[in-house]
Amino acid sequence: MKEFNKQTSFTIFESLSELEDDNNALMQQAKKAISKAYAPYSHFQVGAAVLLANGKVVIGNNQENAAYPSGMCAERVAVWSAASRYPNVVIKKIAIAVKSKHREIDRPVAPCGACRQSLLEYEIKQKEAIEVFFMGEIGKVIKANSLQDLLPFSFDQSFL
Ligand code: THU
Repeated sequence: MKEFNKQTSFTIFESLSELEDDNNALMQQAKKAISKAYAPYSHFQVGAAVLLANGKVVIGNNQENAAYPSGMCAERVAVWSAASRYPNVVIKKIAIAVKSKHREIDRPVAPCGACRQSLLEYEIKQKEAIEVFFMGEIGKVIKANSLQDLLPFSFDQSFL
């Protein structure tokens, strides 16, 4: 038996204004995408903006359904839209922001496990890390350098 230690680094920005201009602009697009979310059940709106290597930004937002499990998270709406429109273009970054009707979210909201798995698929496919920026409605922004960092010991095609 042996112990395995994995060290992971994240960058924590005190606020949106600490981000470099291009990353700030991407987060602004994610925030803008919040307003078009369809979240009548949770009242928890999520916006995501994906930056591609060709410079295009593809947005997504959560789309809920009266049959609850049939809804979809913002991150997967965004990344699948990007992959369907630009199938062979490298995904560089994704920015994620939220807004709740119940309270002001003042801490970063990390993508759910299923979204991490879906994003990881493209990171493996393109053999290039995808940066993930996530925040609440206000406050700190966290940057992860890759999906591998957010989802260690993941399932991938090498097992199939
Ligand atoms: N949601 C996202 O869009 N992304 C996540 O990573 C977590 C949750 C959405 C799904 C649902 O519409 C609402 O937030 C509440 O769970």
